[in-house]
Amino acid sequence: MSRLKENYLYSRVFIPEFLSFGLIIILITLILSDSFIKFFIILALIIIFFIRLIDSVGRKRKTQIRIIQKAIDDIRNNMFSSPDEIKLGKQLFELESDIKSMFLKTQNDIANLKKLEQVRTEFLGNVSHELRTPIFAIQGYLETLLEGAIDDNRVNKIFLSKAFHHTNNLNNLLHDLIDISMIESGQMRMSFRYFNMKDFIDPIVQDFALLAEEKHIGMILHEIRPKLEVFGDKTRIKQVLTNLISNAIKYTEQGKVEIMVLDEGKFCRIIVRDSGIGISEKDLGRIFERFYRVDKDRSRSVGGTGLGLAIVKHIIEAHNSRIDVKSSPGLGSEFSFLLKK
Ligand SMILES: Nc1ncnc2c1ncn2[C@@H]1O[C@H](COP(=O)(O)OP(=O)(O)OP(=O)(O)O)[C@@H](O)[C@H]1O
Ligand SMILES: [Mg+2]
Repeated sequence: MSRLKENYLYSRVFIPEFLSFGLIIILITLILSDSFIKFFIILALIIIFFIRLIDSVGRKRKTQIRIIQKAIDDIRNNMFSSPDEIKLGKQLFELESDIKSMFLKTQNDIANLKKLEQVRTEFLGNVSHELRTPIFAIQGYLETLLEGAIDDNRVNKIFLSKAFHHTNNLNNLLHDLIDISMIESGQMRMSFRYFNMKDFIDPIVQDFALLAEEKHIGMILHEIRPKLEVFGDKTRIKQVLTNLISNAIKYTEQGKVEIMVLDEGKFCRIIVRDSGIGISEKDLGRIFERFYRVDKDRSRSVGGTGLGLAIVKHIIEAHNSRIDVKSSPGLGSEFSFLLKK
C-alpha cells in the first residue's frame, strides 16, 4: 500500500470536515476570481494543499495510534512494572494518564486476587491441618481399643475418654469454622437490643467458676451497677466474653482472672484481665488473625485452634466498636471493648 493511501486511510475520519471546508473555499474563490484560468489554478493549488493536509493529518494520526497500540501490547505482554514506565508523549498526555490509572487499577486488582488466593490456600491448609490432628488421635485410640485394649480395664476408659475429648475439639472447630465463614460472607445476622449487664454477665462468669477453681485461679467479677443497660447482640456478646474468659483461664497458670464493667460516658467498657503468661509485643499484632497461636503446641494441648479471637474481633467490629489489648509477658493480659449504653 502506498504511503499516501495509508495516510489517507488514517485521516479518513476527517473527510467530511475536509470536504465542507474545501467546498467553502472553492465557492469563495469562484465568487472572487475574475477569470476561469485563475480559478482553475487556484483550484489546483487548493487540491494540492488538501492532499498534503490529508497526508500530514493521516501521518500524525498513524503515529499516535501506533504509539497507543504499542503501549497496549506492552501492557498485555507484562513489559511494565510500574505505571511511570508508560510514555505516550506530550500530545497524548491525557490518554497517558488514563492508561496509567487503568494500569494501576489492574495491577492492584491482580495483587488483591493473588492475595485472596493465597489466603484461601492458607485457610484450607490450616483447616485440614486442624482437622487431621483430632481425627488421627481418635483413629489411634479406637484402633488400639479394637486391637484388644478394650478388654484391658486399666486403659479402656482412659482411651475412650481421650477419644471423646478429641471429638469435642472437632466439634468446637466445626462451630468456629461455621461462625468464621458466616461472618466473613456477611451472613451472620445480628440482633441488637438493650439488655441488663449484670443479669447478663453473672451466669457467664458462674459457668467458668469451676474451671477456674480446678486450676486454682481466682475468678473475680467486680461490682456492676445494677441498672446498667447496654446495646448489642446478647448472644454474640456472650460468645465474645466466653472466648475472652476461656482464654484468660487457659493462658493463666496462677493468680486471678478479673472481669470489670466500667462507665465511660455514653459507653461502658467491658474488661477481662488475667495474671497469666502474657503476650509479647511481636505477637500482639497478630493474635486476631485466623489460626494464629503464639505457642501452637501449648494452645493445641488446651484445645485451641486460634479462631477464637478472630471471631471476637469480627463480632466487636459488627458492634461498631474495637477490641483493645494490653499485655506484658509473664505479668498478664487485658482485653477490653466498648459497648453503647
Ligand atoms: N489471655 C491470654 N493470655 C495469653 N495469651 C493469649 C490470651 N488470649 C489469647 N492468647 C494468645 O492468642 C492466641 C490466639 O487466641 P485465640 O483465642 O484466637 O485462639 P486459641 O485460644 O488458641 O484457640 P480457640 O480458637 O480455641 O480460641 C492464643 O493461641 C494464645 O497464644
Ligand atoms: Mg481462645
